[in-house]
Amino acid sequence: MAPTTIGIIGCGSISDAYLRGAARSRLVQVKSVADIRAEAAKEKAAEHMVQAVPVDALLADPDIEIVVNLTIPAAHAPVSLRAIEAGKHVYLEKPLATRFAEAKPVMLEAAAKGLRVGCAPDTFLGGAHQACRYAIDVGAIGVPIAGAATVLSHGMEHWHPNPAFYYQHGGGPIHDMGPYYVTQLVNLLGPVSRVTAQASTASRLRAITSEPLAGQTIAVEVPTTVNGVLSFANGANVSLSHSWDVWKHSRLPLEIYGSEGSMLAPDPNFFGGEPKVTQRDGDWTLLNIGAHPYGEPNRVTRTGAHVADHRIIGLLDMAAAIRSGRPHRVSGALALHVLEVLDAFERSSLEGRHIVIETPCERPEKLPLGSGEEVFA
Ligand SMILES: NC(=O)c1ccc[n+]([C@@H]2O[C@H](COP(=O)([O-])OP(=O)(O)OC[C@H]3O[C@@H](n4cnc5c(N)ncnc54)[C@H](O)[C@@H]3O)[C@@H](O)[C@H]2O)c1
Repeated sequence: MAPTTIGIIGCGSISDAYLRGAARSRLVQVKSVADIRAEAAKEKAAEHMVQAVPVDALLADPDIEIVVNLTIPAAHAPVSLRAIEAGKHVYLEKPLATRFAEAKPVMLEAAAKGLRVGCAPDTFLGGAHQACRYAIDVGAIGVPIAGAATVLSHGMEHWHPNPAFYYQHGGGPIHDMGPYYVTQLVNLLGPVSRVTAQASTASRLRAITSEPLAGQTIAVEVPTTVNGVLSFANGANVSLSHSWDVWKHSRLPLEIYGSEGSMLAPDPNFFGGEPKVTQRDGDWTLLNIGAHPYGEPNRVTRTGAHVADHRIIGLLDMAAAIRSGRPHRVSGALALHVLEVLDAFERSSLEGRHIVIETPCERPEKLPLGSGEEVFA
């Protein structure tokens, strides 16, 4: 079958991962890239041997079936809406929008036009996270009762070339990193029913130390330290600590505690890792992730770590799902539920109360065992 033709809007840092991922795939083919900054589109086009076009031309191109929106969070909803109005399916980077109220019209418009919306993160489809999902589903740790999800660092202004958006609405540790953790928790445990939290902002100004903007300051609009509790419809509750005010710590990214044992789940910002489980208080045993696709390391990070980075597989799953008429896993419905949860952390803190989550969502289907793109059939 011919690959699905896609166009990418937003040619910044993350676009390389998608352009490289698309070049490896037989399911999608990039026809054009566009950016509000024409020079950014030209640069990526030359690097990845595709064509650069103005945003309007990309949207008007009848060959393009899926628009991949890799703009900053403030542009996610407006650019997605324009693509939907142009009759395109949309797959976008997280979060779905800067806030729930902005995302809802995007989902309604897509539904009215019979178009699909998919939204990162797709990391939960990675081999290590699917191994955790399979283990939970067969009762490896019994009934999940509690857990802890942790992201602690000192922010983004020391590495990203243009980090201001991370401190504007739609950014901050909750909206930027929370999607990885909350989405994986929904994959493992099902939908969230309630959120309770305390949020704070340690500093209203952050100094950029990365080039080319080193020396400039960023005005911080969002909480940068959030501690909260997610209550799940299945009865489990999970504590969540997300902060960009922490220099060093010794906590693990994700743990689940069940009636018959515990699970150490790897960092859901990546696709691989070494998930471990115990039976009751026995020794930790490694889960075998080898039977699952998309868990093997394929990239070295800035800090020299070998990580599995298969960013794009959510888009591949959506492209295959459109062809076969099945639901796609990395869906807008899942992202809308997650966004309501993310917004609820700040709301709970400001309003001093529990926030009940109203958007329904189902656990996405597991990826079949196997290897490569056959699993999307
Ligand atoms: N950088 C990462 O490592 C990373 C990782 C995962 C996810 N993401 C997510 O990907 C998205 C983009 O991040 P990034 O780091 O690539 O940002 P970036 O600032 O490097 O790139 C964003 C690009 O979008 C363009 N843009 C902004 N508004 C636009 C509009 N209205 N129309 C067309 N183009 C527009 C900008 O000119 C810029 O080139 C964010 O939502 C971010 O959370 C980034």
